[in-house]
Amino acid sequence: MDNSQFFSNCAADTIREAAVALKAGHLVAFPTETVYGLGADARNPEAVKRIYEVKGRPSDHPLIVHISSINELEKWATEIPKYAINLARAFWPGPMTLILKRTEMARDFITGGQETVGLRVPSDPIALALIQEFEKISDSAIAAPSANRFGQVSPTCGADVLKELGQYLNQNDRILEGGISTIGIESTIIDCNAQQPMILRNGAVTKESIEIELGVECVESNPNSQVKFSGSFDRHYAPECRITVDAKAIEGAGFLALSHIETPRGMVRLASPKTVEEFARILYATFRAADQVGLASLVVSEPEGQGLSVAIRERLSKAAQGR
Ligand code: TXA
Ligand code: MG
Repeated sequence: MDNSQFFSNCAADTIREAAVALKAGHLVAFPTETVYGLGADARNPEAVKRIYEVKGRPSDHPLIVHISSINELEKWATEIPKYAINLARAFWPGPMTLILKRTEMARDFITGGQETVGLRVPSDPIALALIQEFEKISDSAIAAPSANRFGQVSPTCGADVLKELGQYLNQNDRILEGGISTIGIESTIIDCNAQQPMILRNGAVTKESIEIELGVECVESNPNSQVKFSGSFDRHYAPECRITVDAKAIEGAGFLALSHIETPRGMVRLASPKTVEEFARILYATFRAADQVGLASLVVSEPEGQGLSVAIRERLSKAAQGR
């Protein structure tokens, strides 16, 4: 693709045209509040196949279906437990994906052959407008994984999508630029197929906030479960450089820590987020920056405590396993 397929001014007509492109079977990368997604018509097997090709992703790895509101839930999911409805009411639109029993709308090419489907209503205004426009013309929704090559770092701005996937996209595909993702790490994934909700991937909707909102306990995910989820592959979220967590000083390595932590001697400070929210927002851009300047190592001082810090540490431990 060339730059004419990169839209930094996402006015209503740009979004409408992007919805038409999706309907025609093309791919549209779009901003969400978590990370950028690479979208296709969730009911078009050829279009979805191209997502896998462009990402270089194994085809049994399921995709999240992005819907415009809780009203679309019953189209895609059935046997929805009461607590899942409560979760949707509390946290949608927002950074949360629910895994539910699928209807026949979610075919094997979306679910990786599983009987469940992942559903999310994002809050980013461009994402929501695109999904709404697409639902109007299609009786479908938008399947979208993060807009990176398989195992690489998720993009948090349109320019990073272009760098990451531009060479694999064609003249009919599009990238919608909507600025830097406000959250910066992927959605919380919650399996809703048992008596209690189970967190499969931590994110900005935290265990604590779920328990307060629902008044029920969230169970921890079982690493031996048969459910396939993001991060179950060792190479996830890893940049080129070696990520080390809370290591002693490494001469010439990059360094990322909260602003009150001093830079160890001989290390190159890449970012100084003041809060854990800012830490999450800049995390992947910092990974990319470390690669861009050719650093061999990046040392990260992990944020402590519960809440969003848990999701950041989860990403760091995956990244530290390398590629
Ligand atoms: O924040 C996000 O969730 C972003 C934005 C674009 O929405 N999307 C995202 O998609 O991170 P992806 O494909 O990179 O990661 C979603 C993970 C996948 O690794 C997949 O294994 C898991 O969600 N998933 C999807 N459907 C599932 C299902 N039915 N059962 C279990 N896991 C599922
Ligand atoms: Mg991903």
